[in-house]
Amino acid sequence: MKTNNFSGPPPEHIAFIMDGNGRWAKKRGLPRTAGHKEGAKVLRRVIRDLDDIGVKYATFYAFSTENWKRSDDEVSALMKLLEDNLDDLVNYEKENIRLRFIGGRERLSEVLQKKMADAEKKSLDHTGMTVTLAINYGGRDDIVRAAKKASELVSEGFLKPDDLDEAAFEKLLQTEDIPPVDLMVRTGGELRISNFLIWQISYAELYFTDTLWCDFSKSDLMKAVDSFSSRNRRFGDAK
Ligand code: IPE
Ligand code: IPE
Ligand code: MG
Repeated sequence: MKTNNFSGPPPEHIAFIMDGNGRWAKKRGLPRTAGHKEGAKVLRRVIRDLDDIGVKYATFYAFSTENWKRSDDEVSALMKLLEDNLDDLVNYEKENIRLRFIGGRERLSEVLQKKMADAEKKSLDHTGMTVTLAINYGGRDDIVRAAKKASELVSEGFLKPDDLDEAAFEKLLQTEDIPPVDLMVRTGGELRISNFLIWQISYAELYFTDTLWCDFSKSDLMKAVDSFSSRNRRFGDAK
């Protein structure tokens, strides 16, 4: 049963910057990695909550192109968390979820790359929510990769420079078959985008909360969605 109790239609696509895991752990005297473990549990629950309220696309920032700057220990722990839990992190089998990944894969371990490819293949025909995990993702990197693809298509004669408009370019981004972001939620109190989906959020509504990702509850999610529903999206028009 869908529990859609808020005022307007839910956003079709919500993107999450899941921030604050380190601070959550620090507050409890735990290592940062304990925060990431807890964050993974919250991710699983939020996916169910989103499904409940009828959201069709959800994209989660799990690891940025800049997060390699962190200590080797933290990076390895994050990668291991993904490797060990990818299959039950997003319960795509049982919940009919189409699971996808964005971000550069070449820098990830072979084990993780294989698990990602398998999950995408197995869930390709699933008709429920599309969940995208961004791993080694950067918005600028996404745009540069698309520009490279475009120049290759031009040099191979498959694309005329004049045919490269916004719609055609968008199809070359890693989010090719996913609609633009309607609502972008960032937990953890920072008021920035940190290189997430910079093209795709051009007209997204932004929602920032001080709540740390590990504490992000269903009622926090409903507040974000309610805020979205009460806004007037003009898209440049004068309505
Ligand atoms: C977000 O939490 C998770 C990742 C970036 C992988 P952080 O690890 O950035 O937590 P804070 O911001 O340091 O509290
Ligand atoms: C953004 O959080 C990246 C993820 C949530 C994966 P960061 O913690 O890396 O962002 P900054 O460094 O505060 O901008
Ligand atoms: Mg952070």
